[in-house]
Amino acid sequence: MAKPRRTQDRQDYYYWEAKKKGYRSRAAFKLLQMNKTFKLIKKGSKVLDLGASPGGWSQVAVELGAEVVAVDINPMPPIEGVTFIQGDITKEETLEKIKAVSREYDAVICDASPKITGHWSIDHLISMDLARAAFNIARQVLKPGGNFVVKMFQGEEIQKVFNEFKPYFRFKKLHSPPASRKRSAEIYFIGKRFKKIKTYYIVPPEEQE
Ligand SMILES: C[S@@+](CC[C@H](N)C(=O)[O-])C[C@H]1O[C@@H](n2cnc3c(N)ncnc32)[C@H](O)[C@@H]1O
Repeated sequence: MAKPRRTQDRQDYYYWEAKKKGYRSRAAFKLLQMNKTFKLIKKGSKVLDLGASPGGWSQVAVELGAEVVAVDINPMPPIEGVTFIQGDITKEETLEKIKAVSREYDAVICDASPKITGHWSIDHLISMDLARAAFNIARQVLKPGGNFVVKMFQGEEIQKVFNEFKPYFRFKKLHSPPASRKRSAEIYFIGKRFKKIKTYYIVPPEEQE
């Protein structure tokens, strides 16, 4: 777990709490807080954790009684109760590997972050691509009624992406848990009670026989 840069940072609290409680990341507290507020994961849930390494969210999901499939482009040390797939969530082959383990999940949670370039608008756009990749996976493997959480970096595309995701959920909200750094650009899309929407292709008149 990376050491906090500023010792006076109020987030030190979560760093030390994570150490004390044996979580691999302070991000674990974000999921705990969001789960307390939105009831996303329950005992017996099948959870897909995207961008999972080093494993804090997967640890929390297992503690909540879930069966977890975790995916990351980087390796992740094993956790009991977690099936790990190393892969890029933007790649079709990773979706195939996920489906090979299970085609139906109660919750898809995604905390994937791009490598920060420091250029705010670039980081924002890469994060939007990751969020869309996570949603593309969720759309295919989430059970009707399932829940979806995805991290995004705030910026001009947020409302557009929110509008893309929102028809698929009966409850939807952008949320910042207390454990997120105050100065952080991150925000989470929370979607509950997934609706499978059929997409129809309307044949344009010139293509009609
Ligand atoms: C903030 S960390 C996740 C922390 C995790 N939730 C925890 O509690 O330990 C972001 C992760 O996203 C992963 N990631 C970034 N781009 C990815 C991609 N295209 N496919 C899969 N994982 C990706 C990174 O490798 C990194 O491990």
